[in-house]
This record gives sequence, C-alpha cells and structure tokens, in this order.
Amino acid sequence: MTFDVGRVRALYPALADGYAYLDGAAGTQVPGSVVEAVAGAYRDGIGNVGGAFPASGRAERIVAECRRAVADLVGGEPDGVVLGPNMTTLTYRLAAALAAGWGPGDEVVVSRLDHDANVRPWLQAAARVGAVVRWAEVDLATGELPAGQYDGLVTERTRLVAVSAASNVLGTRPDVAAICATAHAAGALTYVDGVHAAAHGPVDAAALGADFYATSAYKWSGPHVGAVVADPALLERLRPDKLASSPDRVPERFEQGTSPFADFAGVVAAVDHLAALDPDAAGTRRQRLLASMAAAEAYELELFGVLLGGLEAMGHVTTYGKASSLPGGGRGRRTATAYFTVAGRTPRQVAEHLAARKVNVWNGHNYAWELTGALAIRDAGSAVRAGLVHYNHRGEVDRLLEGVAELGG
Ligand SMILES: Cc1ncc(COP(=O)(O)O)c(C=O)c1O
Repeated sequence: MTFDVGRVRALYPALADGYAYLDGAAGTQVPGSVVEAVAGAYRDGIGNVGGAFPASGRAERIVAECRRAVADLVGGEPDGVVLGPNMTTLTYRLAAALAAGWGPGDEVVVSRLDHDANVRPWLQAAARVGAVVRWAEVDLATGELPAGQYDGLVTERTRLVAVSAASNVLGTRPDVAAICATAHAAGALTYVDGVHAAAHGPVDAAALGADFYATSAYKWSGPHVGAVVADPALLERLRPDKLASSPDRVPERFEQGTSPFADFAGVVAAVDHLAALDPDAAGTRRQRLLASMAAAEAYELELFGVLLGGLEAMGHVTTYGKASSLPGGGRGRRTATAYFTVAGRTPRQVAEHLAARKVNVWNGHNYAWELTGALAIRDAGSAVRAGLVHYNHRGEVDRLLEGVAELGG
C-alpha cells in the first residue's frame, strides 16, 4: 500500500498548529477520535466501578475494553493486562512484587542501552534483597546491544533479565527474542520495555519471549496511561502490596486506587486508530493492527532514510547509533529515531534554534541515563533527539535538515 500520510495527519487536530512534531518519542499527539472518546466518557456520565447503577457499569465496560485493546496491540490476553499511570510506576510495582521472591546471591541482568525506568527499579529491588546485578554492555561504536553476551551474563542464579525492545534515543532494536531465549533456558523471567518499540511497528510479545511486556499509550497516540502485559497465570503467582479492601483478582491486584476511566476510553480509541492506519487492512483488530503497524513502520523507515542521510552528510553533525534502518539493510533493527550533536552548539541551543523554526525536538539524556554516561556525552547536555512517527511527513524532515544546516560553518 501507499501510506497516505495526508489522510493520517488530517485526523490529528494538534498538527494544524504548523509545528513539526519530531518529539513523538517523548509523547505523541492524539487523533480527534481519542479526544472524543475521553470527552464522550465524561459526557455520558461515568461512575466508579462496582456500583449498582448504569454509569458504574459503563466504567466497568471501558476497563474491559481497554484491556482487550492493549492485549490486541501487543498480542496478549486481556486478563494479563495490568493498567496504571505509566510504565515507570508499574515497573516499580512489578519489581517489588518479583523481588519478594529473590534472596542474597540471586542475580538480575539489566542493560546499558535501556531507559532508566527499566534499570533503576531492578537495581534498587536487587539491592534491598542482596541480589547481584549484571550489566549487558552496548557496543558504543554502533549503538547495538550484542545478544551473544547474554550467554555469559545469564546463570542458573539469574531470576530476571530486563531489556528494551528499542532504545528511546538511538532507536536500536536488540535481538530480544534471542536474549529472552537465553534467559528462559536458565529458568529466568524476562521484562521487556516496549515503551519506545510499540509505537513503531507490530508487536508480538509472545514471539519475543517477553514474560512481561511494558508499554505506554501516550507514545502511540493515546492518553497518559501505562500497561504491563503478562500471562495471567504468572501474575497469579505474585503478591504485590495492596489494600485489604481492594480486589485480589488478577490483574486488578496490581492496580492501585481508582483508575482514569475516561483515559482508558481514549486508549481504546488510540488502538482502533492504529488498527486503521492501513485502511485496506482486514480481519480481526489484532490482524489489522499487525498490518497497519507494518505499513507505518515501512513508511517511517523510508522517511528516516532521508532524515538520517541528511544529518550524516553534514560535516558539523555527529550522529549516534549505527544500527541499520533502511529497507534491505536489516530493517527492524532500528526505529526511526535520530540522536545527534552539532559542533560548537549545546544540544539545548540546537533545540532552541529549531524551535524558533517551528521544529520540536528533544535535547538531553531523555532518561537513557546509563547510555549517555557510557557515551560520555551526558555531562555536556547529551544530544538532540529527532524521531519520526506515522504522522510526520517529508516537509517536516526537510525543515529539520535546513535548520540544522544553518548551524554549520
Ligand atoms: C523506552 C522507554 N522506556 C520507559 C519509559 C518510561 O515510560 P513512562 O513515561 O510511561 O513511565 C520511556 C519514556 O520516555 C521510554 O521511552
């Protein structure tokens, strides 16, 4: 199919402001259908769950629909979808619940590529029980996380391997299936951070071997809601801290306090929106999601070839991450995310220069704390991140490149 970006862009009210939103990796804009779903839930009248009246029943239906939608997006079961405010909060919650079963001498493996939200909760949980932390290192020249090193890192004492499905700054997509297979062969569980990855292509958490797959709807055109998807039978084995009075069922056992029901309605609309990115996609919502996200990924990566090629051609620009992104060049090993510095300018100055030209990019470590430290760029303000999602178009990329070119010489 030809990806009709004009049709897609028209669905997003915020894009009409004339800014090039190349900041999607920090949070996307939402289509009108999401705005309407959130507003509609409030307009219809919404109660708390568990009540005897219709507005309460509406909230219960929204929660159930939200679990179904997230399960469809990542390839899980609705009863295994834990919903919460964001990935970080949920990861702390899961880390505490999992670490309750760890002891001194047990081991966890984290990676230097990951966003800190898939590192620090495991380090802190491990420290509390005396577990040992092992690090998977990034090849700093390429930005890759070699999967082979896990053979030496995972032992029979490993309880958990935490790894990212895609770096939020370099875009690198490690070979998560191979890493999870190594973990499982040793009897360890896997916690896969799909927050960046899920926005950029089809997801099959089971095929990856992810025992836990974390995602955040605000990265893929939805509201600020996070989710962790796991096998319900695995969740049954865990006993998170909870109130005596709150449900002990799975997955509710992991959800603290009253949920943002109207936002959950927005999550459902976001998943439906993603499923329709390819208007010719047919079948179940899961099938349409797989087809639509594959189409979006192909579109993003083709446009990314222009963006990255343009940056790499400028003598005053240094790009980080060399994982292949172009069709035929091992596609799927990188998302359409560029991370770069400009000679003689701080990343903040570059971002301000671009903002004055109505181009939104991020500057800083973007919580890729260990990685920017290893690259020795963190103290100098790290780098600039420009990322593409399915609503970005060629004119925006050209505007970015023109703005960066102005900073040369
Ligand atoms: C790769 C990655 N992991 C985790 C997070 C944290 O997600 P949340 O904001 O939902 O806590 C982010 C957010 O930027 C991210 O990009």
